[in-house]
Amino acid sequence: MRQPTKSSSTAGTTELGPVVFEAAEIAAAVSRVAEEIRSDFRGERILMVGVLKGALLFLSDLMRELADHPLTIDFVVVSSYGSNAHGRNGVRLLKDLDQSPDVEHVLLVEDIVDEGFTLSYLLNNMRSRKAASVRSCALIDKPFRRAVDVKADYVGLHAASDDFLVGYGLDFQERFRNLPHIRQLQSRVPT
Ligand code: IMP
Ligand code: MG
Repeated sequence: MRQPTKSSSTAGTTELGPVVFEAAEIAAAVSRVAEEIRSDFRGERILMVGVLKGALLFLSDLMRELADHPLTIDFVVVSSYGSNAHGRNGVRLLKDLDQSPDVEHVLLVEDIVDEGFTLSYLLNNMRSRKAASVRSCALIDKPFRRAVDVKADYVGLHAASDDFLVGYGLDFQERFRNLPHIRQLQSRVPT
């Protein structure tokens, strides 16, 4: 399911569907990702770059799981623009890092990789700026509509379908980010 359009959501109703990932399952995935990161970075300091706003909860839980690892955090904000067959053709940086990623081991922290435009844009952006290394982690990989050949180095959860998901940071029109679990969104058009 594609993201419900604004017109269908105003004409019909948007309802929460079934829970796809329970809070405990999310916590276990975050913990496993933290373990992989800890073992790969071997004590090297990490600059964790959260992609706002969706990665807010994931980043907070992930950094707490890495309490014994040296790290700093920073944030970027991106937006997509333009329109093509997929509904868009570009990504724009609305807020850059506060600091230079120069000589840092950058770890991009994304909520979900769908078509892949956002992650691909951010990887290229960070790589062009003399970081010591650039890797990425995503809470959820949703590969069904991938338009750019990109894959996160660390993935917490694998979506089983291209259903639109909300909760644990993920929003629909800025709502539902505060759910502790992740659910499907269902749109109903009035009959
Ligand atoms: P991509 O550029 O298509 O990979 O899209 C990535 C961005 O689209 C994510 O960071 C989310 O903000 C948003 N997104 C994609 N799929 C979903 C979803 O199922 N729920 C909520 N946001 C989504
Ligand atoms: Mg979003």
